[in-house]
Amino acid sequence: MTSPIRRIAICTGGGDAPGLNAVIRAVVIAALNRGWECYGIREGYNGILFPERYPEGGVFRLGRENVRGIGHLGGTILGTTNKGNPLHFPMQMPDGTTRDVDRTGEILEFFARKELDALVSIGGDGSLTIANALHQKGLRVVGVPKTIDNDLDKTFTTFGFDTAVAFATECLDRLHSTAESHHRIMVVEVMGRYAGWIALHAGIAGNSHAILIPEIRFNLDKVAAKIRARDAEGRMHSIVTVAEGAEAADGQRAVVEPAQIGHAERLGGIGERIAKALRQRTGKDARVVVLGHLLRGGSPTSFDRLAALRFGTAAVRALEEGQSGVMVALAFPNVNYVALEDVAGRMKGVPLDCDTLRTGRDMGISFGD
Ligand code: F6P
Repeated sequence: MTSPIRRIAICTGGGDAPGLNAVIRAVVIAALNRGWECYGIREGYNGILFPERYPEGGVFRLGRENVRGIGHLGGTILGTTNKGNPLHFPMQMPDGTTRDVDRTGEILEFFARKELDALVSIGGDGSLTIANALHQKGLRVVGVPKTIDNDLDKTFTTFGFDTAVAFATECLDRLHSTAESHHRIMVVEVMGRYAGWIALHAGIAGNSHAILIPEIRFNLDKVAAKIRARDAEGRMHSIVTVAEGAEAADGQRAVVEPAQIGHAERLGGIGERIAKALRQRTGKDARVVVLGHLLRGGSPTSFDRLAALRFGTAAVRALEEGQSGVMVALAFPNVNYVALEDVAGRMKGVPLDCDTLRTGRDMGISFGD
């Protein structure tokens, strides 16, 4: 028999995604309606690990007034970070070296000291791996799947993805006319880390002529051949959508910053490389647009808002039912619960036999293979 819940904490971790505030709002309202108290942890776990940095409190009480009118806003009112993973925290040693330290014990002590009964952890793979570790150490935890990348396993989709795809599609729509007017190649680089979901979905919806994703190593001679074939038909412009993590045939990725303790590798720059190579191969003018963090901003689409509200309230129901170590997931059309240990550390890439990819191929889009 688990003890009844009286006080819960909410944490948002990793890169922000449209819909975070809607989840926070849903959790707070559903919890208050059960007579529970809610607390928000600032910037991932930094509010607990560095309370001195926050003069107004590293952790603060969340009432109805804090979540009023935030459901449609991008970002997170709690703040977030994708650095300083408490499982692998970079600690400076007196000799100047950096050591990888597990600081999750301090989080557990904090929860015990503040008499917090449970945690709702909203995040992607990194945050859910931390959530799983905290659960295994005895904390009651429910995870909520967030990321624009849509690369989390065991859920049909994560919130944030639909908004990112909708915005990228709008950008692609806008680029067609200028590409056509100038007879140019436009290369559009989108985020997604090691998964090609954003590039694939927006690329098809936005009528790209080539889409390059990490799951399919690309050969630029094939892309150049597609562009030349279009030119031969009198279609003098081409749009190439490329995922930031796409790899050339030799397995090379474009990396801006290598991984460090507590911080993942940072990707970027593949668009420029591709534009240069296509210029050389086709003799055409090519321009690059990097959508980058624009994909993480703005108001969530109604799909993401609804998913976020459903996920947040389902997380509260899970805690009420005595569940822990689970993530709420979209098992279309329902929300269900899956074990955090089945999600942590796993990445969901685009399956090579999926219908969406086959749709692209049947539409004549080049995948560079
Ligand atoms: O995981 C979300 C994401 O936006 C990825 O698509 C991207 O690679 C990464 O975060 C960028 O992180 P940062 O905010 O550190 O630039």
